[in-house]
Order: sequence, then C-alpha cells, then structure tokens
Amino acid sequence: MRLSLRFVVPLFLALGIFAYAALPLVDKLMLRWFSRDLEVRANLIATTVDDPLHNLIRTGDRGRIQEFFTRLTQDERLFAVAFCPADAGEPVATPTMPAEVRCSDLGRFTQPSGDLLQTASGPVFLSVRPLVGGGRLVLVHDMSFIARRSRETRNYLFLFFVGLGLTVALITVVIAQLSWRGWVQGLRALLRGEGLLVVPGRAGGRGFAGPPAELRPVVKDLRALIADLEADHRSRDEEQLAWAPATLRNILHRELRGQEVMVVSNREPYIHMKRGAEIDVWRPASGLVSALEPIMRACSGTWIAHGSGTGDRETVDHHDRVALPPPPDGPAYRLRRVWLSAEEEAGYYYGFANEGLWPLCHIAHVRPVFRTRDWHEYVSVNRKFAKTVVDEAKSPDPIVLVQDYHFALLPRMINQTLPAATIISFWHIPWPNPEAFAICPWREELLDGLLGSTILGFHTQFHVNNFVDTVDRLVEARVDREIFAVTYRGKPTTVRRYPISVEWPPQAELLGQPVEQCRTVIRRRHDLPPEQAVGVGVERMDYTKGIEERLRAVERLFELEPQWIGKFTFIQIAAPTRIHIEEYRNYEARIRDLAMRINQRFPEAAQPPIILKIEHHQPDEIFEYYRGADLCMVTSLHDGMNLVAKEFVSARDDERGVLILSLFTGAARELPEALIVNPYDIDQCAAALRLALTMSGGEQRTRMRLMRGLIQDFNVFRWAGRMLMDAATLRRRERLPDAFTPRGIERQKRVAGFDQA
Ligand code: F6P
Repeated sequence: MRLSLRFVVPLFLALGIFAYAALPLVDKLMLRWFSRDLEVRANLIATTVDDPLHNLIRTGDRGRIQEFFTRLTQDERLFAVAFCPADAGEPVATPTMPAEVRCSDLGRFTQPSGDLLQTASGPVFLSVRPLVGGGRLVLVHDMSFIARRSRETRNYLFLFFVGLGLTVALITVVIAQLSWRGWVQGLRALLRGEGLLVVPGRAGGRGFAGPPAELRPVVKDLRALIADLEADHRSRDEEQLAWAPATLRNILHRELRGQEVMVVSNREPYIHMKRGAEIDVWRPASGLVSALEPIMRACSGTWIAHGSGTGDRETVDHHDRVALPPPPDGPAYRLRRVWLSAEEEAGYYYGFANEGLWPLCHIAHVRPVFRTRDWHEYVSVNRKFAKTVVDEAKSPDPIVLVQDYHFALLPRMINQTLPAATIISFWHIPWPNPEAFAICPWREELLDGLLGSTILGFHTQFHVNNFVDTVDRLVEARVDREIFAVTYRGKPTTVRRYPISVEWPPQAELLGQPVEQCRTVIRRRHDLPPEQAVGVGVERMDYTKGIEERLRAVERLFELEPQWIGKFTFIQIAAPTRIHIEEYRNYEARIRDLAMRINQRFPEAAQPPIILKIEHHQPDEIFEYYRGADLCMVTSLHDGMNLVAKEFVSARDDERGVLILSLFTGAARELPEALIVNPYDIDQCAAALRLALTMSGGEQRTRMRLMRGLIQDFNVFRWAGRMLMDAATLRRRERLPDAFTPRGIERQKRVAGFDQA
C-alpha cells in the first residue's frame, strides 16, 4: 500500500502540472483553428456579396443596402457588416457595428487574415476584404462562442486528466498489490480456479472448483514454476530475514514444500536416567544437541539417536519413540531411539569414533587408535541407523540431517536406499589436512560414505579446504574449487562452510534470574565472599578442551601477581564423558591432581584458586554460572566451533563479563572481540586473565555488545536455515530437465549431426 501511495501521489501531481500547462496551449490552438475558419468564411462572403452589393450601391438606396447587411448578420456568428467606399463617400454599416471600428481608421488593422479585438460588446474578429467593384467590406465576427467552447474544452480536458489519473492509479495499485507475493498468490488462486469457477451451492458461494482437466498438467507446471520463482526471490534475501523458529518453518513450508525433516545423531536430545524409583530427564552436555534441539522444535519431524540413558527403554512407546520436548514446552517432535549392544557401543562409539576419528581430527597430541573390530562395529551401527532412517521416513525424499563423525558412512547408505532424499551432513569437529587424515586405514570408505551427501558442512573455510584437499589427494573425484563441489561416482556433493551458533534470544527461563542474584548465588554456594572475582570454564572432561592449560594459566597469574591470590577463584565445570576410554580417565585424573596441587601451592589463599565440579549440570545451572562470573575461559587445543563461547556471550544480557578464547576454535574467527589466546602459551593466557580481571566496565560493554550483535545476526536458526535454503536450491536444480545439462546438449549435438560437419 505504501508503495502504491508513493507512486500514485507523484502521478497525480505530475498530471495536475501537465494539465495546468496544457490548457492555455489548447486555448491558443483552438483560437488559431477558428481564426482560420473565419478567414475562409470572410473570403467567401466577400466574393459572394461583391456583385449584389455593387448593384445596390449603384441604386444609391442606403436603406436597401442596410437591409441586405442585416439579412447577412442573421448568421449567429456574423455580428456586424459595413461597406467602406474607396472614395470619401459615406460608409454603410449595420447598427450593431462596434464604435471601435471606423472606416477612417481601418489602417490600424494589419493582419491580412483578420484581427482579434476586445470591444464593448465582447470579443470580436475583424476581417477587412477589398471588393472587386471597389471599396472594402468589413465583417465583424462574434467571438464570444470561442470563450464558451474554451470553457467546455477545459471541462472535458479536466475530466479526461482525472479519468486518466484514476485509471493509471488503479492499474498501479492493482500491480503493486499483486506484485511479488500478491501476484503469486493471485495467480495461484486463479490456478486453483478461485474466482473463475464458483461452485454453486457451497456455503456462502465461496467454494471453488479446480481448473478444467485438460489444463491441469499446465497448471501443475505453472505452480512449480511459481514456487521456484518465489523461493529464488526469497533465497536472495537471507540478509533481510529475522532468523527465528518461524523463519525456519517458513523455509520448510514454502521452499521445501513441507518436506519431512529427520535428524540423525549419536547423542539424544533428552536422556532418561533412573534414580531409584524415579526417572530424571537430563539434557546432555553436547554442543550439537544444544544447537539442533531448537531447530527440531521449529521443524518438527523425527530425531533418530542412540538411546543411552538408564531409563530410556521405560519411556518409549512400542515403536521405541518418545514425544519431545517434555511438558510444559512440548511435544514438538519425536525421538526414535536406537538400541546398541555393549559390543556395538564399545566398537562404534568408544572405539572407532572416539579413539580413532576424534583424536585423528583434533590435533591434540593424542594418538588415534584404529582397530579392525571397531571398524566392523562402526559399519554395522551405521547400517542400523540407515535402516532406521528408511523405516521412519514417511516419504521417498525426506531431508535428512546427518550429524557428526559417528556417521561418516550413513549418507551413502541412505542414498542407496532413498536416492531422492536430500542428505545434509554436518561434521562438527575439525577436518585435518590430507596427510593427517590418511593415517586412517579406512580413509577411502569414510570419504565414499560422506560423498553420498547432497551437502556437507563444516564450521570453517579452513576445514572445508582441508576436506576438499583430502578428497583431491585420496580418491578419484572431480573437485571444483570455484564452487566447492565434489563429484564422486557421478554424484555431486556441495561442500560448504556453515558456522554453527546458539539460540537467540536464549530461552527466557535461562535468563530469568537477574545477574546480580546469579553473582550472589554462585559465590554463596562455594563459600566465596561477595567481592570475590570468579572465572568459569564449562565443558565435557575432554583432553581437547585445554583444561590443563587454563588451570596452569591461573597458577601462573598467581605467581606473577600474588595480589590475586585469595581474591580470584576459577570454577571449572566438567561433565564426565567417554569414561570407558583410558585416555579420558587419565585426563580426568590429571586434572584432579593438577587442581589439587595448585590449591595446595597457595595455602595462604583464604579462598581456593580452583574449584572443580566434575558432574553433570542442567542448562539453567550452567547459565547461572555464565551470568554470575566475571570471565569465561575457553582454551580448546582444537575445536570445530565451540558453543560454550557463544553461550556465555548470549547469557550476558548485562553486557558485562570477559571471554578468553582459544585461537584454535572456530568461534575465534567470529568473535575477535574476545581476548584471543594461544592456549599452549601459558604466559599469554595468564596475561589475558590479568587483562580480563582489570578490564573497565565500558571496555567490557563495548566488546560484549559487538559479540552479542554477531550472535544475534548469526544464530542457530540461520545456521540451519542456510543449509535448508541451499538444499532447496539443489532440489530445484535437480528437477531441471536433463536435456539442458552439458550431457544433454552433447546428446543433442550428436542427434542433430552437428558433430559430423
Ligand atoms: O564437538 C562435536 C560433538 O559431537 C559435540 O556436539 C559434543 O559436545 C561432542 O562432540 C560429543 O560428545 P559425546 O560423545 O558425549 O556425545
């Protein structure tokens, strides 16, 4: 509507100005036409009356001459007539002759065609014609009709311009209303037959019949074309969208025609754990889960994951499904649990995924271990999940979001059974360089599996490049580095960077407790005085997270600046993880020893330098620490993204708090306003701690605002939305007729015999 007004108002103004300028021109033009007309009439009258007039003059009877002239003036437009003799004789004129016109004074009328005069009786046109018999005939034409005509013309013109303006405005408004979404919907409605064929007898006459049968195929194609046009248009608007759950739902419904969405991950979004006779619901400590859960809430669909909780079997229905999230928030989607035997879990999860691929991809100086029996379990568990995907799929072409290094083989397996499925795989951990990856004895099988994906995503361009290099080096594939696409076994896979993020805004209940209260609560909980400076670290107890390095940095700060002893406490929250793997048990033991040693080293500290909390925490408890701390340390030795960094920033709606962030995380590329450190450089980390503890409120606010702005713009809905939009584009591309592909054109060349010439 605003667009219409923006056009219509200037249009009327322009028409008004045009009409205002055009009317005097029209008057002039009309005058010229009438003058020419009168000139012709004057010539005609003069020629016609020449003889009879001179006959009358010769009689010398002035009365009869006047009577003759009076008869002439009975023509409504001839106002007066006079005869001016050539000699000084007496003129003869009708009594209507204006006083301004005298025979003695005709010399002042110069125009041969005639002159326009204003007289006491109104506007007149004067024509003076010499007569063959001698003397001059003076004709005075009444011009008052010109003014009348001019008025009428103005009225007509005015009405014309108003009509023109209204018509153009109407067309503009209609086009504006129909254009973009409008016309698409209008056309769609038309295609549905609405407005064309009203089915009589339906309530309110609002029922509509579809288009005639013979038009249906055309209508179907047109509908698809319109949907594609709409989607193309929207895809270009990624920047303009406000990324929220509804945005994702719209993409799914409009661009992917409500296609079903399935997620496959090892870790489930909710774990049911037995506690005596009770069953608790746990939210696992997993970046992947915290990113995907809001997506599934928005898109519904089915999430397939390993049922690993002690109370999981008690909480599923007879199809092994459970509706989630639990009340009061849900249900919004369903979880299909897959059960694994102890051998399967040992080989696939602990063995191949976490003793092999995890250290292989994280350059954290832990040797990967590859065992053949683990590989066999990995293959068979991937097959088990592929079968579950096929069982759960309600359509032949679902969108399947395959998560992480646990399922490298799954994309190919799904593709073999559901070739029309769109498979978006996301590798949440780093991808190493080709030399490092080549260590894996089943490297080709893993690449083959992943290249069954339609889209393969990584957090950073660096990891995309590493993957493409690896493919180029290790398998026979066509690699296009212009568009980052790999064609392997005739199937293209798009390899892209999609930096993951967190929900924005965070769920209201996580921000419910005011920051001041969080500060008080966490200090009181650990017997710390209210003014105690507090740092926090939150992760799984994993050797890639750099927990040792950060504790050493705290120790180093105390060495260099003893005034902080007893004044600063670092609280490390670490969820126990992968405890069946020796490396993890050793790591936990090392961390416990280190914390104890540091605490013992500073006996003078009234408050402990380090507080270790090696236990599972729920999201609301973690947010309490984020909000109550002065700083957060993320010192991963290598990390795909690291969502703790982004969660800490999203938790700080008070725009306070300092983030110390390892340069080896994907997050460091997006949050340069954090204090970026090399976790291996303990002195540098200690210096960052000092800077964080002494940073002014204004500086904290400036940095926090910038980081919050980024997360607001690039939240987790945008992460998923970009992948879904790319999937929609690829699906549309796949529907294009094969005849126009390079292969099709080549065929055409042969068929048409162009290759013979
Ligand atoms: O970093 C990748 C990731 O899958 C995370 O999403 C998650 O934090 C972790 O690895 C997996 O942890 P777990 O083995 O406990 O599921």
